[in-house]
Amino acid sequence: MTSPVPPPARPSDPDLLALALDIAEEAGRMIATAREGTVTVADRKSSSTDVVTQVDRDAEALIRQRIAEARPDDGFFGEESGGGEGSSGLTWVVDPIDGTVNYLYGIPHYAVSIAVVEGPADPAHWVERVGVVLNPASGETFTAVRGGGAFRGGRALRIPSPPTLDQALVATGFAYDAELRGRQGAAVARMLPRVRDIRRLGTASLDLCNLAAGRVDVYFERTLNPWDHAAGGLVVQEAGGIVVGRAGAAPSRDFLIAVHPELLSAVEDLLDDIEA
Ligand code: IPD
Repeated sequence: MTSPVPPPARPSDPDLLALALDIAEEAGRMIATAREGTVTVADRKSSSTDVVTQVDRDAEALIRQRIAEARPDDGFFGEESGGGEGSSGLTWVVDPIDGTVNYLYGIPHYAVSIAVVEGPADPAHWVERVGVVLNPASGETFTAVRGGGAFRGGRALRIPSPPTLDQALVATGFAYDAELRGRQGAAVARMLPRVRDIRRLGTASLDLCNLAAGRVDVYFERTLNPWDHAAGGLVVQEAGGIVVGRAGAAPSRDFLIAVHPELLSAVEDLLDDIEA
């Protein structure tokens, strides 16, 4: 009689985090080295301003290869090469360079973003298990493990009690679609007199980590993709924040709001007003 094949062992979250961090650091070194040379646009995607460099592609290929070597049964979903589910139930959601336009221009504010989620690469159905957001230019690294807290380097993160909305520093970003950008700009103009100020830093994953670190009080954006917010979203949640869509929905391409729970309803009211 043959004994049944045991199910594959479930990796511990600290093991997954260590692997994600190793891979992010290796990709980060490659990206930073490539930035010392000339970086050019390799292709355009959803619009003429939505660009990809060869370094985005090479970094994603490296990350994908390292994951496949270490965890061949896991799924993979990356910004540059797509992907799908594996047989283990875990999916790696990857943006090799979040903030590609910053990277192209040499603005030192871009990130390798790697998350491991239980389930598919869909924020309505995934449970994020670990997240790593690493800025190769500054050396800052944000990490989170579900139930295990969020960290910047070795320092635990906790979102401070929020100010009132009129004193809140609000981060956002704009879609690549020109017509939608126009409407977003008009809405932000209506928001400006009602908050402390606006920041558009150009890297969604770092916007989320900045919220977790208390560097901004609110972050919201439309048309984000799963790879933009999977890792940073877990960092926010583990720092005591929430990441939601509109009216109680899960975050999606339609809308993502990240904020301290005490400020959510004021932010929702403001968004309703400026969009009306
Ligand atoms: C972009 C950045 C940007 C955000 C865009 C994203 P990419 O990611 O995160 O801040 O406003 O929506 O697409 O294209 O540089 O990986």
